[in-house]
Amino acid sequence: MTVDAAVSATTGTLIATRPAGRYHRCSIAAPDVATAAVPGQFVAVEVQAPGTLLRRPFAIAGVDTAAGVLHLVVATVGAGSAWLVAQAVSTRLRLTGPLGRGFTMPADPGRCLLVGGGYGVAALEWLGARLLAAGHRVELLSGAATAQALYPVTRHDTVAGTVVETTEDGSSGQRGLVTDALGDRLRDGDAMVYACGPMPMLAAVAGITRRAGMTCEVAVEEHMGCSVGVCMTCVVPTVHGYARSCIDGPVMDASRIRWESVDPPREDGLRHG
Ligand SMILES: Cc1cc2nc3c(=O)[nH]c(=O)nc-3n(C[C@H](O)[C@H](O)[C@H](O)COP(=O)(O)OP(=O)(O)OC[C@H]3O[C@@H](n4cnc5c(N)ncnc54)[C@H](O)[C@@H]3O)c2cc1C
Ligand code: FES
Repeated sequence: MTVDAAVSATTGTLIATRPAGRYHRCSIAAPDVATAAVPGQFVAVEVQAPGTLLRRPFAIAGVDTAAGVLHLVVATVGAGSAWLVAQAVSTRLRLTGPLGRGFTMPADPGRCLLVGGGYGVAALEWLGARLLAAGHRVELLSGAATAQALYPVTRHDTVAGTVVETTEDGSSGQRGLVTDALGDRLRDGDAMVYACGPMPMLAAVAGITRRAGMTCEVAVEEHMGCSVGVCMTCVVPTVHGYARSCIDGPVMDASRIRWESVDPPREDGLRHG
């Protein structure tokens, strides 16, 4: 089986890893990927910790096209992510990408609401910068369980005109769920909504936007095996049958997903932070 010709297996050089809240921001010189990628796509990184056969998928949180550098924001949750953030500068990394389908840019300038849970904001950070640069009004809603798990946006003013942070325990920003904040903001008028985070959050966002009659794209971060369309680990039920989130997504039209048939989160699963 072959994979899309635009996808390349390449080698990058780690040029920096910086702690950012409970995450690490890894910058990788990989000009082929940085030049070809669009917001919403991801890379699969080969990790060399014992027992980690499969490449680990990470959203592209931003690129510096001129320098040929891409940025990942990594939560340390297991052997693979721990290996990645522990690597020394100049380490050569084997990676595949850019992978998957990215977000759709609206045709006309308008209002865009970005809704992210935990590290799910990584998939939205670069999108926000692109939308702002194209003249859209961008509002970022970033939620997490606690202040420590909030996504570390580097510079809010380059990603969104307004940033609202929510925490479930009230330790930072508004107390409550990021979807509560979305309901509040939708009352201010029409918007294109983009979301990334755990599946229950995405299902809630899809329901809220459907009831409000607004268009919504979600970046689905299901467990993946091969990341290139071969193994069917990542399938999501849609109105057209099962879709592979690695190649038919990760960005999908929220109204096409059969949310009622999505598997409940695995008990060992993450809360995106
Ligand atoms: C398209 C996509 C984009 C992603 N973007 C990011 C990102 O920007 N930053 C980031 O930190 N992580 C991201 N992830 C999740 C990341 O791939 C996993 O955290 C990583 O593969 C875990 O590898 P590990 O070896 O450290 O942990 P493992 O030992 O493989 O797993 C540790 C724990 O994490 C759970 N887990 C693994 N993958 C996922 C997943 N996809 N969703 C929910 N739980 C999972 C496992 O069930 C287990 O409980 C993304 C995943 C996908 C599919
Ligand atoms: S992860 Fe293998 S088909 Fe998507």
